[in-house]
Amino acid sequence: MCAKEHITSIMLKVRCKNMFTEKIFTIPTLKGISAKTIEEHLKLYSGYVKNANLVLSKIEEYVKEAETNAYALGELHRRFSFEFNGMKNHEYYFSHLEGESLPLSEGGLKNEIERTWGSFNAWLARFKIMAAATRGIGWAMLSYDKQTKRLITHWVDEQHLGHLVTTQPILALDMWEHSYVADYSPSGKKQYIEDFFANLNWSSCEKNYQSALS
Ligand SMILES: [Fe+2]
Repeated sequence: MCAKEHITSIMLKVRCKNMFTEKIFTIPTLKGISAKTIEEHLKLYSGYVKNANLVLSKIEEYVKEAETNAYALGELHRRFSFEFNGMKNHEYYFSHLEGESLPLSEGGLKNEIERTWGSFNAWLARFKIMAAATRGIGWAMLSYDKQTKRLITHWVDEQHLGHLVTTQPILALDMWEHSYVADYSPSGKKQYIEDFFANLNWSSCEKNYQSALS
């Protein structure tokens, strides 16, 4: 191998090492949400992983002539948060649907929800209203702020607008129409939300909460 080939080989290894890898999810039969919707939805997730890698590779390519490509580089950096968060949001969402529907355990996260909102049901009612009533596409989320040590319910527009800087996502509910219109009518958002919680494996949220505390 000549010196030039050796350098190219090292660059390729570095690039591969830095690439995001698509996660594999095993989703059981769900209440209300069809296998076809999950299949199509996983393809969309795959697209976010590919595009996050594509944006990073384009940045590496364009930065070689940074001044000439300054405008394109700016837009690629802006675009990255959409693709990256689209990838990560979906990884939280699909992890919630793996395994089996399991209730929230006593203690831990449940205690924190009760401490913050008075009761689990009070929080759940508020969360469902936010998810159903917020106009437009995006995500209904429950996150934990590591700095102020508190849970926050919030909305993320599209994939990337509304993430809270110092928070760890605990629960992510996809409210883009592709999540539910094939199985529910466009006005069937409320039933989709009910079914999401009926399918939810709360142990995935408990793991996220433990991760936020560590
Ligand atoms: Fe989605």
